[in-house]
Amino acid sequence: MSSSVDLITEKEATWDVERIRADFQVLHQTVNGRPLVYLDNGASSQVPQVVIDRGSKYLEQEHSNIHRGVHYLSQKATTAYEGAREKVKRFINARESRECIFVRGATEGVNLIMYGYGRKFVNSGDEIIISAMEHHANIVPWQMLCEEKGARLRVIPMNDAGELLIDEYEGLLNERTKLVGVTHVSNALGTVNPIKQMIAQAHKYGVPVLIDGAQSAPHMTVDVQDLDCDFFVFSGHKMYAPTGSGIAYGKAELLEKMNPFQGGGDMIKTVTFEKTTYADLPNKLEAGTPAIASQIGLGAAIDYLSGIDRESAARHEAELLRYATEKLSAIEGVRIIGTAKEKASVLSFVIDDIHPHDIGTILDQEGIAVRAGHHCAQPVMQRFKIPATARASFAFYNTREEVDTLAQTIERVIEIFS
Ligand SMILES: Cc1ncc(COP(=O)(O)O)c(C=O)c1O
Repeated sequence: MSSSVDLITEKEATWDVERIRADFQVLHQTVNGRPLVYLDNGASSQVPQVVIDRGSKYLEQEHSNIHRGVHYLSQKATTAYEGAREKVKRFINARESRECIFVRGATEGVNLIMYGYGRKFVNSGDEIIISAMEHHANIVPWQMLCEEKGARLRVIPMNDAGELLIDEYEGLLNERTKLVGVTHVSNALGTVNPIKQMIAQAHKYGVPVLIDGAQSAPHMTVDVQDLDCDFFVFSGHKMYAPTGSGIAYGKAELLEKMNPFQGGGDMIKTVTFEKTTYADLPNKLEAGTPAIASQIGLGAAIDYLSGIDRESAARHEAELLRYATEKLSAIEGVRIIGTAKEKASVLSFVIDDIHPHDIGTILDQEGIAVRAGHHCAQPVMQRFKIPATARASFAFYNTREEVDTLAQTIERVIEIFS
């Protein structure tokens, strides 16, 4: 009988990283004379050839505007675009495809919910709860709303490991709470939040919950029905699709109640100068010509993800994170920011007396792409009393050897500054 360790090794062996890397031409290049080590997947992941090919096919053979045309090409484009919506529906297990609204990305998704839901249902004296580890995309729209309406933004605090204080969250919920918005996975810390539990807690007060899935959808299976979240947003470009693609999911009964986000073509039933009536979902929330090629690309990326063993991919990413954490922790002067028990794919760190931008610049000279800065999460930096971090973020095409290169180069950075 094999032990569990043997079993894990056997399972890991099923992840053929070189075969996966062959799908991503962009990875096979040199930068500053060194093989590219791409560890900036949290900002934007790379796009596999099949997704590029699908976008090209649309542009070469199917390009036309959607919905409004009776001609062949318009119907082809519409079928491909609406087909992508069906794929999204299956990918997140939405009840209906009309619950999946195409947006440019997570930012536009949050703004759509703020304008459509928040501006209609949040009033003076109401409260909105977000967490201390939100990306600016899930802070600023709510601040704007609170300012406009005279509502109050409440913030779930976190501990020094970067874990939300769930007891304090319970204490923030009350009859004035109109919405909870929380990230599934922190882009700055890597923390995976216990969102299923948090959603259930909010629902005890009848409060809808928006999940920012920008950093989770690329790495784990998302089942919006199982989570029972009311809204879920994510960006295509962080999950192997082109920029300009993304989804704002909402339960149909909430989306139906919402005001349109933008006015214009495609979102109307009838228009007179006296009155406009709106189209049914999803069109009501998708004004104007969308990013057709990008959203078709999102559908192709979902096909790609459906064609790989996502469990093995997630296990490979978890192992990379574990290995990188071990390697970097062993380097004197390196401090990991974000040490939650549950983490995914993000490793933020600082080095004594070296600014993260200098770390990023020297790593780039060696062909290593990491992100340095506040990661659009300035309150996280304030919480940890640091100006910025360097952040390596992993995808399933990264390798242990790349982690070794990262660790060796960080040692060189320290030498240079010593
Ligand atoms: C957690 C999180 N939310 C929202 C966003 C915003 O995504 P986008 O810029 O694609 O709209 C990001 C991007 O980094 C993110 O990491």
